[in-house]
Amino acid sequence: MKLLEEKILQDGKVINGDVLKVDSFLNHQMDPQLFEEMAKEWQRLFEGCGINKILTIEASGIGIACIAGLVMKCPVVFAKKSKTSNTPEDSFSATVKSFTRGTVNDIYVSKKYLSPDDVILIIDDFMATGEASKGMVQIVKLAGARLAGIGIAVEKAFQPGGDELRAAGIRVESLARIREMSSENGIEFCED
Ligand code: G4P
Repeated sequence: MKLLEEKILQDGKVINGDVLKVDSFLNHQMDPQLFEEMAKEWQRLFEGCGINKILTIEASGIGIACIAGLVMKCPVVFAKKSKTSNTPEDSFSATVKSFTRGTVNDIYVSKKYLSPDDVILIIDDFMATGEASKGMVQIVKLAGARLAGIGIAVEKAFQPGGDELRAAGIRVESLARIREMSSENGIEFCED
């Protein structure tokens, strides 16, 4: 998606070789007008799939997914990353490793909010190793719901997550796919 690629080139910063900082519009300060255009693009791509619910994960996925829910007129559920007094006992859960942070934690979604009648679109801000998406796919399976696919804002295509999920037969639609990046040479997007 040209608009997102242009925004990344204009405002994104590559740090430590493989981390793209997009704090000014995606995952700290947020640009709702850009999110709306992204949501319309996912709506176009997944048209006719019968999506009735969006699943994302806290924290940075929530803003994007919420605007997608507004555009696609469906509720948005977010997976919680820790068990608090607020976490319902009756939850679907999956284990997610974060390579970036070197942590392993369980994610939770209340059984009240996912059912076998649901057709789910998973939305997240980044796809790197794909662990967060794989955890959410696992939760969709546990719920017996149907997965329409995964919508990602920025896929770091030089990391394996996106292609592993595609190889598993899951439709992954990333609006910007970075082929390579470095602080010296900047950012290059995949051609497709
Ligand atoms: P994954 O998201 O594909 O599972 O990969 P990984 O375990 O490597 O990512 C861990 C966290 O780091 C995720 O955020 C992911 O969105 C974020 N991340 C990965 N690569 C980048 C990057 O290049 N730039 C930025 N800004 N973030 C990146 P999270 O754990 O879901 O945290 P949150 O920020 O949503 O709370």
